[in-house]
Amino acid sequence: MITTNAYSEKSAEDAIKTRKALFSKNYSTAKKVQSLSSNGEFDKAKELMLEMSKNYLNLLELFPDNSKEGFKTQSLPIIWDDKENFNLLMQKSSDDMIKLTSVIETTDNINGSIKMLMWSNCKTCHSKYRKPH
Ligand code: HEC
Repeated sequence: MITTNAYSEKSAEDAIKTRKALFSKNYSTAKKVQSLSSNGEFDKAKELMLEMSKNYLNLLELFPDNSKEGFKTQSLPIIWDDKENFNLLMQKSSDDMIKLTSVIETTDNINGSIKMLMWSNCKTCHSKYRKPH
């Protein structure tokens, strides 16, 4: 029993720390996507969009039941009551980054497209599933 508890404690810590690191990474990557796109550096921007898309898919696995609290998590318990919609929003955020790669070079409103397909998903999710910070 002791080893089992120690193990799940460890995996909760891993999950929380790993998801925090991935969200932070996505934040800095998102800022680069914004500036590269504004400068017309679309190839680099698209690479980073795909990286963010993959990170979102990895995040789907990082909210196990034992990681609702502790280790300074800012996740709200509603995530686990509403896991299906939370996961759908994570999946949509990933899909939208792929969509962004296909419109970024042709859109006549770069900032608008980035706002709609990238930043708005952050906001939608945080307003419901993340503690105010
Ligand atoms: C589907 C939901 C969802 C989406 C989409 C999402 N986030 Fe988050 N984000 C969260 C949750 C939940 C947390 C709290 C994680 C924790 O502390 O357990 C979080 C935490 C963070 C953190 C704090 C990480 C830390 O070190 O504590 C940052 C920064 C962040 N998000 C940025 C972003 C940005 C930028 C975007 C969009 C590009 C984004 N997030 C999209 C749900 C989301």
